Amino acid sequence: MTTLTHLECSRCGARHDARAPQNLCPCGGPLLARYDLATARESWNRDWIPNGPSSMWRYAPVLPVSKPQAIVSLGEGMTPLVRAQRLGERLGAAQLWIKDDGVNPTGSFKARGLSCAISMAVELGVRKVAIPSAGNAAGALAAYAAAAGLEAHIFLPRDVPQANYIECKASGARVTLVDGLISDCARIVSERAARDGWYDVSTLKEPYRIEGKKTMGYELAEHFRWTLPDAVFYPTGGGVGLIGMWKAFAEMEELGWTVGRRPKMIAVQMEGCQPVVRAFERGDEHCELWEDAWTVASGLRVPKPLGDTLILRALRESGGTALAVSDEAALEAGLELAAWEGIFAAPEGAACVVALRRLLASGFLKPEERIVIYNTGAGLKYLEAYSTRFPRQAGGEQDKLGGLITPR
Ligand SMILES: Cc1ncc(COP(=O)(O)O)c(C=O)c1O
Repeated sequence: MTTLTHLECSRCGARHDARAPQNLCPCGGPLLARYDLATARESWNRDWIPNGPSSMWRYAPVLPVSKPQAIVSLGEGMTPLVRAQRLGERLGAAQLWIKDDGVNPTGSFKARGLSCAISMAVELGVRKVAIPSAGNAAGALAAYAAAAGLEAHIFLPRDVPQANYIECKASGARVTLVDGLISDCARIVSERAARDGWYDVSTLKEPYRIEGKKTMGYELAEHFRWTLPDAVFYPTGGGVGLIGMWKAFAEMEELGWTVGRRPKMIAVQMEGCQPVVRAFERGDEHCELWEDAWTVASGLRVPKPLGDTLILRALRESGGTALAVSDEAALEAGLELAAWEGIFAAPEGAACVVALRRLLASGFLKPEERIVIYNTGAGLKYLEAYSTRFPRQAGGEQDKLGGLITPR
């Protein structure tokens, strides 16, 4: 099973015990799981991986759980890598793939992180968990907590997509709608966690969600037969998937599984909330709080990511970039992706198509490069956003071309 040794502060380097529930380091830095990769290198062979489960748990030696019976899995990970030939031809990208994480349990990539976090909560004897969320993480937490029999307390912005609210309620979580953003929800959770005996599983305050998300990087390498693509587009809110993939690439090098250049990491944000883009362009190491954040890509409405330094470092080390797109363009691209590839993506994933078009036009990316877009969620979870594109008029049906059929 695991080769986990300890937790290490990403800011001050302090070592923390991985056998007890942990949140941030006293210095305020997020903790990262560290493994005995030398032992893993000797005792584990990448050629054995296909014999493991067809879920992210096939990478168990570099995941934190030590007791197999603690694993709470709904079949997350090992999502399809779809060769987007038709869209690629339209955009002028000869080698384009969509990694479709919208097919995960609960319809988003958040399943990876929450499967790992809840499994560790079970292993460490936690009974009550709490989360502030933009929506999809809450849906995943509710499902995995239900599967594990844990009590889940969820805090969401009041205008969260309806699908997220309903999935949390359906799974029996205790849901509070907050007049504010995810940052306001986070404040409430941190104020109440100690008093109410909740374990806070907020992004990066809990050290194992990122471990689940790093499997996105392992899977890319496995799909590409232990090489890596030239560029990975990632819709960035809290940035955990991006930091996680970067960690996976470093671990795989230490395992001797991949060599050569890592992909350029491209953070895609929305015009209505782009703290990472602003910090990247200014050459800053931290993000400033983005005031009055709003976007239909609700998962990207994170006004100040806790892992800002780690995100910005990964972007710069990789030779990547960060750019923001409009809601309008993202929804349009969502329909283009659905019409040309049959993938109905969350606006977060669709935003990456807009960003790709821009980076090909500017010459930042070359037409022959191997490019992956991470679609992080299912379009079906965003029906309010997409229905603005297909208004239905009262009293009549629409024909296939969108024209109104007058009722007889
Ligand atoms: C569909 C979707 N994409 C992307 C993100 C951003 O994820 P991360 O926090 O890893 O940047 C979220 C977060 O809620 C999301 O729900």
